[in-house]
Amino acid sequence: MRDIRIAPSILSADFAALGEEIARLEAAGADLIHVDVMDGHFVPNLTIGPGVVKALKRHSRRPLDVHLMIAPVDPFIDAFIEAGADILTVHPEAGPHLHRTLERIRAGGAKAGLALNPATPVAAVEHVIDLVDLLLVMSVNPGFGGQSFLKSQLPKIRTLRTTIDAQPREIALEVDGGINLATAAEVIAAGADILVAGTASFEGGPARYAENIRRLRGGA
Ligand code: DX5
Ligand code: ZN
Repeated sequence: MRDIRIAPSILSADFAALGEEIARLEAAGADLIHVDVMDGHFVPNLTIGPGVVKALKRHSRRPLDVHLMIAPVDPFIDAFIEAGADILTVHPEAGPHLHRTLERIRAGGAKAGLALNPATPVAAVEHVIDLVDLLLVMSVNPGFGGQSFLKSQLPKIRTLRTTIDAQPREIALEVDGGINLATAAEVIAAGADILVAGTASFEGGPARYAENIRRLRGGA
């Protein structure tokens, strides 16, 4: 059985108390902290930049899993690594030279992630898989929390699980968007090993974070 890791997305956190929210999530069993960076251009929403990631880093003992939904992405790679991103995930549509972008992330000392939008085919990973430490399947269109899970992405997760299992080194398979207790079980069965959960992690307030995370992982 694969280890299942839960990455709460701070998109659903209290933005006026992010440091405390991270401490609560980590105490509640979060394995990674998922940070959604949006530019109002690549996706229709605006969130945070490297300055906030740097501030979060001081509050976090878990890896910062930074999901960049910005274009062009290359001019900001170094700033996010310097800010403390442990994993930096990019979309193939966010720049003209994906291979170069992934090389730059790894050269900076972070793990490189590649995110596939619902309409992006699995073929997008084919010629860059050697440079990837994590594949992220978007199970909603990026931009907002609280959207419904797209079941059309389950075959993609299964295909990527097979692709990853044929690789000589470890690559994480993360799923992001619309994860709740029902869809968590489906994506775990399809082969995911990291589940991003915004709404479902924060539901019911801080007193429920530990229970939410435990149940998403598959615990009773
Ligand atoms: C969407 C973001 C997600 C989002 C998930 O663009 O990438 O990480 O926070 O939120 P939920 O879990 O509410 O769908
Ligand atoms: Zn995300």
